Amino acid sequence: MSGCNSCSRRDFVATGTLAAVGAFLAACGGGDSNPTAPAPGGVTVTVTLASFPALATVGGIARVTTTGTPIAVVRSGPASYRAFSMVCPHQGTTIGITATGFRCPNHGATFNANGGWIGGQNTSGLVEFTVTSNATAGTITITS
Ligand code: FES
Repeated sequence: MSGCNSCSRRDFVATGTLAAVGAFLAACGGGDSNPTAPAPGGVTVTVTLASFPALATVGGIARVTTTGTPIAVVRSGPASYRAFSMVCPHQGTTIGITATGFRCPNHGATFNANGGWIGGQNTSGLVEFTVTSNATAGTITITS
């Protein structure tokens, strides 16, 4: 069998099948059909602010992605917003939103609305993304 001198036909077929599945998933983006999902290797998400009522007031926090990298936006001022990865820096669990920030359900790390670690499992702060606003369109664009 060419290219595989030491493996059985069964191993060869299994390896070939896994390669084909991997190629299929890569070609279709892992089954992700959400056009606003972050692209592999980087994040570019445009958010229509009116779609997230929590962002109508300063201090409000909303999760703005349903697929791909989980991202939360914090309204940090009358016309300013910050965006954070909701991937816990401890071991990668998706964190939840609280009244004043975030909490990881896995080991209890808590973060304030600035993304800083404030308690629970000791870890670093949340990864922050760049936010650019388009006041005319009522949107923000989040990039990494
Ligand atoms: S994974 Fe979040 S605190 Fe451990």
